[in-house]
Amino acid sequence: MFKPIAAASINLKAIPQRALYTGATMPAIGLGTFGSDRVSAAQIAEVVRGAAAAGYRHFDCASVYGNEPEIGRVFEEILRNGIKREDLWITSKLWNDKHDDVIASCRQSLADLRLEYLDLYLIHWPFPNFHPPGCDVTSRSPDARAYIHEEYMRTWRKMEELVGTGLVRHIGTSNMTIPKLKLVLRDARIKPAVNEMELHPHLQQPELFEFVVKNGIQPVGYCPVGSPGRPERDRTPDDTAPTEDPVIVRIARDHGIDPAVVCIKWAVQRGQTPIPFSVHHYRTNLEGVMRDPLTDEEMRSIAAIDRNCRLIKGQVFLWKEGQTWEDLWDVNGEITPP
Ligand SMILES: NC(=O)c1ccc[n+]([C@@H]2O[C@H](COP(=O)([O-])OP(=O)(O)OC[C@H]3O[C@@H](n4cnc5c(N)ncnc54)[C@H](OP(=O)(O)O)[C@@H]3O)[C@@H](O)[C@H]2O)c1
Repeated sequence: MFKPIAAASINLKAIPQRALYTGATMPAIGLGTFGSDRVSAAQIAEVVRGAAAAGYRHFDCASVYGNEPEIGRVFEEILRNGIKREDLWITSKLWNDKHDDVIASCRQSLADLRLEYLDLYLIHWPFPNFHPPGCDVTSRSPDARAYIHEEYMRTWRKMEELVGTGLVRHIGTSNMTIPKLKLVLRDARIKPAVNEMELHPHLQQPELFEFVVKNGIQPVGYCPVGSPGRPERDRTPDDTAPTEDPVIVRIARDHGIDPAVVCIKWAVQRGQTPIPFSVHHYRTNLEGVMRDPLTDEEMRSIAAIDRNCRLIKGQVFLWKEGQTWEDLWDVNGEITPP
């Protein structure tokens, strides 16, 4: 049973907030809800219930995570038991095989989540490329395609329509690059409020981070602690773990906190909005951002440990033989041609 908000151990008003260009505010830390193919939908729904009781008000959902119906039952319960809808920030995402079916997909997420509107709806990936849940790294769709801007904008127009009809309050992008975002900013009638991107001390993406901030877009950071539980398909021998970095470990020791909490505090203080997933540490993570800030010196030492180490490389979205995952990320500064 959901415990009333009064049981929350933290002062909800003290949770840092981000002001979006629309004037809306979004809690500067959210709870991720992707179970990495190993935590069940029922377990994650339990975590959402516990996290709401602990004080979380921002939840990062997606249809492809396969748990929106279970999470929706919890949202219904917590709204019935005293949390106001306007105090929640709920994100969902359009999956890759639904780029031509935006309105129906959004309505499905709303029905599953038992909500009348979403605070934020994202295009999950810029490629309309399907990969089956739980697939391995060699999986490819025969219909996979490159980023085609005209097609993306057709999808974006439907996203804009969702704002017009009130089903969605904000729309945003995810897994984008600077050249792709430049085109979207040129052509959008409603500019993205948020860009969701991988961000942790070993992948700081300073250029993209600065680009989105300069353009009034809020960066939301996924895998903020380096996703130690990510699926096998997202692991390569060269990957590094930010929580094992000696600088993070030292700062954690100095503050008497988990290295993961250092990563989350760094994210909030740097200006992005981390969305850590956690079954066992969600309370610690929220409490961690509320107290004992990192010093300027500590923030500078973390800035110096970037390794450009991307963990979620997205290989399953490649569309041609002979490509490498870097082709998905426009590393030469230009959109990789079809
Ligand atoms: N837009 C996209 O394409 C995209 C891609 C990937 C992820 N996401 C979103 O981002 C969210 C977060 O990413 P993620 O789940 O991959 O990675 P993550 O949040 O970096 O890592 C989650 C893992 O870290 C552990 N952890 C969290 N806090 C900890 C602490 N204080 N001490 C020790 N371990 C801790 C958790 O363990 P316990 O469970 O044991 O606490 C869990 O195994 C996802 O759930 C999803 O909502 C979006």
